[in-house]
Order: sequence, then C-alpha cells, then structure tokens
Amino acid sequence: MSNSQETLKHVAESLRRRIAAGDPVSQVLRSDELRALYAEIPTLPADERAAFGKQVNQLKTELEELGAEQTESDDRRPIDVTAPFDVNVSDQKRPRLLTSDKGSQHPIPAEIGDMIDIFYRMGFNVSESRQIDDDYHMFESLNFPDDHPARDHYDTFMSEEGFIAPAHTSTMQNRVLKEYKHVLADGEDIRVVIPDRVFRNEDLDATHEHTFYQLEGVVVGKDINTGNLVATLQTYMSQYFRQELNTKIQPFYFPFTEPSFEFAVERPDFLRKDDSEEQKWLELGGCGMIHPNVLSHADIDPNIYTGFAWGFGIERMVMMRYGIEDVRHFESAKLDFLRQF
Ligand code: DAH
Repeated sequence: MSNSQETLKHVAESLRRRIAAGDPVSQVLRSDELRALYAEIPTLPADERAAFGKQVNQLKTELEELGAEQTESDDRRPIDVTAPFDVNVSDQKRPRLLTSDKGSQHPIPAEIGDMIDIFYRMGFNVSESRQIDDDYHMFESLNFPDDHPARDHYDTFMSEEGFIAPAHTSTMQNRVLKEYKHVLADGEDIRVVIPDRVFRNEDLDATHEHTFYQLEGVVVGKDINTGNLVATLQTYMSQYFRQELNTKIQPFYFPFTEPSFEFAVERPDFLRKDDSEEQKWLELGGCGMIHPNVLSHADIDPNIYTGFAWGFGIERMVMMRYGIEDVRHFESAKLDFLRQF
C-alpha cells in the first residue's frame, strides 16, 4: 500500500472511532487530520490524485452520515436534572410508557400510600425526607454529642464535603418541629409522619439491606405521654395489618428519646419458623419520648411541651403483611416478585 493510502486508512479509522466514542461530528469534520488529507491531494503524482481525492470525499460523506445519525439518537442539550423527563425531551424522542397492563406500581410506594392514609385519618400531616443531608440534622439536632459512640450505629455514606446519605428518617425531626411549631400556639398538637429512603453500611442478608425505607412519626403537644405513644402505634398496627396484634415495648437507648423503647409486634403464625421467643416477635423499630434537647434545638420549650417519636422499617411491615421472606426482593427488580402486587 502506498504511503498516502496507509495514512488515509489510519485517519479514517481514528475518525470513526472518535464518532463512536461520542465526539460531535461537526468537530471531527474540522479536524486537522482530515484537513491534512485534503492538503495531501495536490502533492500526489497526477495518476493517483483523482482516485485519492475521491476516497477522501467518500470518507467525508461517510462521516457526515454518521453525524446525521448521531444528532438523531443523541440529545446533547443541557438538561434540567430535577425536572420530569417530558420537560427535557422533544416529542419524537419521548420514551413510550409501558401500557398499564404491562407494569404496576412498586410495592413499597404502594404500601407507603396505605400507611399514610391510615395516619392521615388519625390527624397526621405528611412530609418527605431527603436523600442528602448534613451532620446537624443527622446527629447534632438529635442530641448525639460529637464523637459519641452511638453515632457508630448509623454508619452510612458521607462525602468529603460532609454531605451524608441519611441513615434514618429522624433527620427530619428538627425540620418538621420547626415547620409545624406554630400550631402549638393555637393549642393543637404537631402530628407528622415522614416516610422515606435511608442508607446504611450493612452486611446484607434476608432482613438487612443497605437501602431501605423508614416511617418516622413525630407528635408534640401538652401532656403527651408514653400511653399516647403506645395507643397511637397500636391503632396504626391494627389498621395496617387489619387485625389486632399483640405488641410490646422494651427499654432501649437512643440519644434523641428519653425513655427509649424498641417496638415489636407478635408475628402471625405463617411467619414463624419455630416456637422460640425470638420467632414470636418482630421488631419493627424504635420509639420513645422526645428528648428535651431535641425540642430545644427546634425552639420548642420542653418545660411546656412533650412529645413522642418513632421510626419503623417499612419493608419489615410490608414483609409481615404479605409473608415476604427476604428484604432483598424489593430492590432486586425481579419481575416474578413484583408482578404479585
Ligand atoms: N432513628 C432510629 C433508627 O433508625 C429509630 C427511632 C428510634 C426513631 C426512636 C425515632 C425514635 O423517632 O424516637 O434506629
């Protein structure tokens, strides 16, 4: 092969590769390598010139065609990542949605809807949590002293700048207390539930996931006591499980509640592997009377107001309601699991 043929082959391959890798074709067409090929034409011996010129033109046409395909398949305009997709995507490129007979809502948001309905009827407002938070909401406002060992129970992902993927929905307590505290002046209670996604550095097994959902609840008012806490949670449980279930609380430790409890419900028989005491109860999460320091962080006077809070694992409740044996099914995208809902 002559020198010029070799150069042509080499340049063609390199330019095709650039386009395949996503370089805009308009740039590739203006590249020095392509220009050099054109510059070479007049320098060639007369008998090679016409054929070589034709080959270079063919290469250019081929690249232009690839360019047309690229603009069709590739929308490179800047997009607003927070907007729903139809704001960013032109009509022809909008993905066709699956028809409703082919898809269904994921069980977790569907069940969250049911849970919220129950609390709504019990006079609660609903807030959403967030998936990036900071040290103040994750720890400080919840009465975790700096370097306190209790922080280790909430081992999660953190950026070098100090952003945290929240390990519990309690991060929202300070925000909802501040947002709703004006109702206290009218003699009403603050009642809010917060369902959302949380993250933990976990060893994964049938009951532990790194990404899962919690349902947080906060109630504050005058003369609120532990009896109100138990009654509220029992009422919710019997509605969600559509049957009366025995529940129990046992002492525990959380920095943000005093006293603190673990809350468990009696498993229905079909979820018990044996008759052991361990199998009898399913621990759904923690609860307690809100620590005075947590109220103070939201400028609520703990000498006048008291309250309770809880945080339950949503998957645990859903697993118990439907007899699901492995929490990892929820994030697995297994269609045979999801189609059952
Ligand atoms: N945030 C706790 C956890 O994830 C659960 C919890 C315990 C939430 C007690 C509360 C509470 O609101 O009062 O382990």
